[in-house]
Amino acid sequence: MKLHGFAAIASIWVTLAALLIHTESAQPPFSCDSSNPSTRTYPFCNKTLPIPHRVQDLVTRLTLDEKVSQLVNSAPSIPRLGVSAYQWWSEALHGVSRHGKGVQFNGTIKSATMFPQVILTAAAFDSHLWYRIGQAIAVEARAMYNEGQAMGMTFWAPNINVFRDPRWGRGQETPGEDPLVTGRYAVSYVRGIQGDSIRGGKLKDGHLQASACCKHFTAYDLDSWTGVNRFGFDAHVILSHSLRLESVLLFDVTALSGIRYIASDCDAVAIIHDVQGYAKLPEDAVVDVLTAGMDVNCGSYLKKYTKSAVQQKKLSESEIDRALHNLFTVRMRLGLFNGSPNEQLMGNIRPDRVCTQENQDLALEAARNGIVLLKNSARLLPLLRTEAMSLAVIGPNANVTQTLLGNYEGPPCKNVTILQALQGYMKNTMYHQGCNAVNCTSVAINEAVNIAKNTDYVILVMGLDQSQERESHDRVDLVLPGKQKSLILSVAKAAKKPIVLVLLSGGPVDVSFAKDHKKIGSILWAGYPGEAGGIAIAEIIFGDQNPGGRLPMTWYPKDYIRIVQMTDMRMRPDPSTDYPGRTYRFYNGTKVFEFGHGLSYSNYIYEFKSVTKKKLHFDRSSTAKVVKNSVAVGYLVSEMATQLCHNSKFSVTVAVENAGEMAGKHPVLLFARPAKLTNGNAMKRLVGFRTVSLGAGGRAEVKFTLNPCEHLSEANKDGFDGD
Ligand SMILES: *[C@@H]1O[C@H](CO)[C@@H](O)[C@H](O)[C@H]1NC(C)=O
Ligand SMILES: *[C@@H]1O[C@H](CO)[C@@H](O)[C@H](O)[C@H]1NC(C)=O
Ligand SMILES: *[C@@H]1O[C@H](CO)[C@@H](O)[C@H](O)[C@H]1NC(C)=O
Ligand SMILES: *[C@@H]1O[C@H](CO)[C@@H](O)[C@H](O)[C@H]1NC(C)=O
Ligand SMILES: *[C@@H]1O[C@H](CO)[C@@H](O)[C@H](O)[C@H]1NC(C)=O
Ligand SMILES: *[C@@H]1O[C@H](CO)[C@@H](O)[C@H](O)[C@H]1NC(C)=O
Repeated sequence: MKLHGFAAIASIWVTLAALLIHTESAQPPFSCDSSNPSTRTYPFCNKTLPIPHRVQDLVTRLTLDEKVSQLVNSAPSIPRLGVSAYQWWSEALHGVSRHGKGVQFNGTIKSATMFPQVILTAAAFDSHLWYRIGQAIAVEARAMYNEGQAMGMTFWAPNINVFRDPRWGRGQETPGEDPLVTGRYAVSYVRGIQGDSIRGGKLKDGHLQASACCKHFTAYDLDSWTGVNRFGFDAHVILSHSLRLESVLLFDVTALSGIRYIASDCDAVAIIHDVQGYAKLPEDAVVDVLTAGMDVNCGSYLKKYTKSAVQQKKLSESEIDRALHNLFTVRMRLGLFNGSPNEQLMGNIRPDRVCTQENQDLALEAARNGIVLLKNSARLLPLLRTEAMSLAVIGPNANVTQTLLGNYEGPPCKNVTILQALQGYMKNTMYHQGCNAVNCTSVAINEAVNIAKNTDYVILVMGLDQSQERESHDRVDLVLPGKQKSLILSVAKAAKKPIVLVLLSGGPVDVSFAKDHKKIGSILWAGYPGEAGGIAIAEIIFGDQNPGGRLPMTWYPKDYIRIVQMTDMRMRPDPSTDYPGRTYRFYNGTKVFEFGHGLSYSNYIYEFKSVTKKKLHFDRSSTAKVVKNSVAVGYLVSEMATQLCHNSKFSVTVAVENAGEMAGKHPVLLFARPAKLTNGNAMKRLVGFRTVSLGAGGRAEVKFTLNPCEHLSEANKDGFDGD
């Protein structure tokens, strides 16, 4: 009897296990099931017809209620037509994210590759790297869809708002403060995600591997600052000066992908009525957004009020059809109306394509190439390992994993702390957290000092995390939180040798005290470096990698924010009111570290080789020919006048030599500045960047092709080019 009972239990176990396996590989949502005789004959299911034709057929078949149901992020199924449910809202800022509603990590796939937060990836100044990251993410996303763990293939990334104010909690999500970098980042990332070639060649039949979505509208960059929040904030943008800087950018992006749909931010339509009172009635808000060209509402407002807007004759049904055309076009281009993914090319992408060694290596490569060496006095770094050497690792960011990821993250393939990675190099490592948390409201100075005194080298791992800067939370100052500074100073004082300071942060931090401090030998900024960031930091500290990242944003002194309101959208300085302007292009005050700053273990020497236009010349006085540690940048000076603006492109060739003893990747940045500065125009502007890999003693020529109109023109006070 007992034996029998045991067998019965065992067989229940087997059944349960079978059930589990069954639910774990859920069906992905798709339309036009070929085994469903009643729907597969519809023209919208016919793969050989052009997509506009198929979309037209589908939209014509929908009732008004069905149409309205499709205008929100959670679009329900339409069973009578065999149309599946669809979730528009998924996120993939730097890896397939657990945020948004479309993706679940509760099936076969439990994690995804977490690349560095975007601000650090930007610091590599490498378009091809950005493209490859986009590609890797799209493949992982497709695998999740095929596995039934993604209810949609539309990902609301990248974030391409210019990082205008250093306090912005979401600055970490962006490629920084420069419009050229931002534009190139967007193009590369979107092409990678969508499966286009890096040069823009598209997949067959307009198919998309996954769909990207650039966000947000311009002047979005304020979350919550001294009682002002993004929902009610009325941003006054002087079109002439500020907007153009970002709209240039939009042209680039729309040209690349042919924007196919416009989504509202989550609950943003409701806000137009409920918070801002701009629309008198909810229906008015619906009419406003649809006639302005919006296609899908993240939220439920359009589900509630679109039908009544039609009934009240405020909205014509054709406006809804216009939106639906865009929406179903995207779904069809994603291949979601072609029957089961198993029968398609992209249906071959299985869970083994997620967290591959290749993708994890790419995350490591991105971190290595992004991390910025801010200071390296007396060549403290790299540390040379010896048998007898001992190391102290101190700080609230040393033994954490989540912090490495930044926001809009997902569960990473692996968790490696900075401490663990350093211990991998140096067994003889002592550790203390130093602060209770990143806010450092309480500090263990004595314990930290004791460790520091008794070890050869000290690495402090400090900075910020999401408790300090995030969505809905801007910073109110630019200094290190709480008692971090006093911990650093005490440890530096007690240490035998100058210490190494590692900073994790998205936005800039005023660490002038450390920049000028003799006992703080080296400073590394590692953004939020992703799942492999700990390893990359350790590799750089011990000289297995040569840092090559350069800051994608200005590091302002703390007083900057005392004189600049976060709500002030102006980019240009206004001397009459002591307004200093924003970003390296306009701000001429003291900086802690400049845009483009970044040291290396090598020295790079630049030499201008040739420029093809006569009207250009080199400003020999400001061009540092021999550039120690790569901090200085050559300036190309233009005297070009408007009439030449529309002339043909020209090229600039710069020779770069690695005069150091270590191989390295080095981003070459080319700036232009006007010969004469007028009207608060940009003092200088990045006009090209290219990364070169050079062995010790290696030399390369980098050719930049410039278009005078695009790269050397300025908006005048009315927003037009030229004078
Ligand atoms: C995963 O989560 C989703 C949403 O909560 C749920 O519908 C689904 O059943 C879950 N799958 C498994 C295998 O638990
Ligand atoms: C699909 O469309 C093509 C072109 O119009 C047509 O020849 C074919 O019969 C259609 N297939 C089905 C299954 O209706
Ligand atoms: C690091 O943190 C983990 C998890 O919080 C903890 O278990 C571990 O003991 C810590 N390591 C050290 C060396 O304190
Ligand atoms: C990483 O750590 C998180 C929480 O700290 C945990 O939920 C997750 O399972 C870990 N992932 C791996 C791959 O170990
Ligand atoms: C500091 O951080 C800790 C840990 O996250 C938290 O419990 C505490 O409330 C924070 N203190 C302040 C003043 O924010
Ligand atoms: C920047 O400020 C310095 C010192 O105030 C001044 O000499 C210089 O001309 C300014 N440069 C520009 C480009 O405005």
